[in-house]
Amino acid sequence: MTALTLSSSSAATLRADAVVIGVAKGEKGPVVASGAEAVDKAFDGKLATVLETLGATGGEGEVTKLPAPSGLKAPVVLAVGLGDTPDKGEGYGAEALRRAAGAAARALSGSKKGAFALPVGSAADAAAVAEGALLGAYAFTAYRNSNGNGTGNGKKNADDKTTPLAEVTLLGAKPRDKAFKAAAERATALAAEVNRARDLVNTPSNDLTPKAFAAAAQTAAKEHGLKAEVLDEKALAKGGYGGLTGVGQGSANPPRLVRLAYTHPKAKKTLALVGKGITYDSGGISLKPAGHNETMKCDMSGAAAVFAAVVAAARLGLEVNVTGWLALAENMPSGSATRPGDVLRMYSGKTVEVLNTDAEGRLVLADALTRASEEKPHAIVDVATLTGAMILALGNRTFGIMANDEAFRTAVHGIAEEAGEQSWPMPLPKELRKSMDSPVADLANIGERAGGGLVAGLFLKEFVGDGITWAHLDIAGPAFHEGAPFGYTPKGGTGSAVRTLVRLAERTAAGDLA
Ligand code: BES
Ligand code: MN
Ligand code: ZN
Repeated sequence: MTALTLSSSSAATLRADAVVIGVAKGEKGPVVASGAEAVDKAFDGKLATVLETLGATGGEGEVTKLPAPSGLKAPVVLAVGLGDTPDKGEGYGAEALRRAAGAAARALSGSKKGAFALPVGSAADAAAVAEGALLGAYAFTAYRNSNGNGTGNGKKNADDKTTPLAEVTLLGAKPRDKAFKAAAERATALAAEVNRARDLVNTPSNDLTPKAFAAAAQTAAKEHGLKAEVLDEKALAKGGYGGLTGVGQGSANPPRLVRLAYTHPKAKKTLALVGKGITYDSGGISLKPAGHNETMKCDMSGAAAVFAAVVAAARLGLEVNVTGWLALAENMPSGSATRPGDVLRMYSGKTVEVLNTDAEGRLVLADALTRASEEKPHAIVDVATLTGAMILALGNRTFGIMANDEAFRTAVHGIAEEAGEQSWPMPLPKELRKSMDSPVADLANIGERAGGGLVAGLFLKEFVGDGITWAHLDIAGPAFHEGAPFGYTPKGGTGSAVRTLVRLAERTAAGDLA
């Protein structure tokens, strides 16, 4: 991953491939943001005028590259838009800084070193810039032989434009100040883990099978001092995990349930995180039509987020126990697949009539929620690319939050906001429960189409242990980004929910939550 360093050098004298400066929208044209004073001086104080002449406005995400004047060591100045100028006495805000740094880092892909001279008055600002730069520099290159610009010679290309910026130097951040150092360390660990989740999501399903996913968790567990336990298909069948077994039985790649545990000797609370890990969702016998299955390698994004968050908690040494449950299966149609109409006996003992095999996520999550509940954690949060209905409701950038406790739902919403992730609280209206009534089993796996995301949430609620505080994050929209990259969000896997889960663990450690 891209390396991060803090430096007290001047933007004029530091050796780098480019100096990144901020430009905001002023009342009468672009305004150079603080942090860029030395650069502006090298332009004889005319940087704003030069930028305006070049057509820059300071709008969010706008990138303007210009040759550096003599007086700067770096050959290029990259001006990145911060959006509106903040009110007097206020900063740009963490998210504007994150996005600007991300857009700049992406625009510098293929370069070695970027010197970031953005406004970082506080350690919190420095954290935002660091996080944005390290996330924006991300590229998924594991399956690339060439730079994709037509050489097609099958050789790794040294000039590959998809090669992430190698080094980010933050200027204006105090390298010896405790708060700045801590901010840089946190940003490095957090970005590495968000990028871990992105890599997993982007890895195609032929390589990321449930078994391969479990192996990756075991490897990381060794590296970071976590406990890892894996139930294979035999153990799942023997243990009565009807949901995981039923969903996984149609595939040549059998299911797994992974328990990853981070513990701290001084921890007072235990947080359980449960992730949907469908390594490919074909829909099963209720097969998805063409046009709906091309991105379904992303259906393990919840498990990827949980995995990454547990490792992040360990790397940050948080004073809280965090247990991650990865419910891994591949949903495929075959002669051994579960049929619509089959009844599964779940780990909880409840029976479920599977009326639609494409509503598989709730089945694997149900078993993992029951299992997680046995350990009586203080709270359970599950994360899942669960329903298309949530995408229709909230769009592609916002995840829905449902919960069995309104105060907890509100808290998680606030925590997501702090972490820089867009989310919205959703209800669990109890009148929708009866739409899942089944004539043969305790309940069916589908109900009313209207409010489909909430129906799915109500299904999950049935499998959460009595008295345990629980929230469900439906990340079907933001988990996988199909449009052009923006800010620090790349195409493909986004690492959605990782930052929220880590913040939640930090808040739990601090005793701010239930
Ligand atoms: N994995 C899908 C949900 C999904 C859709 C995630 C699009 C990301 C993008 C899930 O397993 C699914 O198929 N849900 C069905 C449920 C329905 C059959 C009740 C859906 O939303 O259509
Ligand atoms: Mn499905
Ligand atoms: Zn699915």
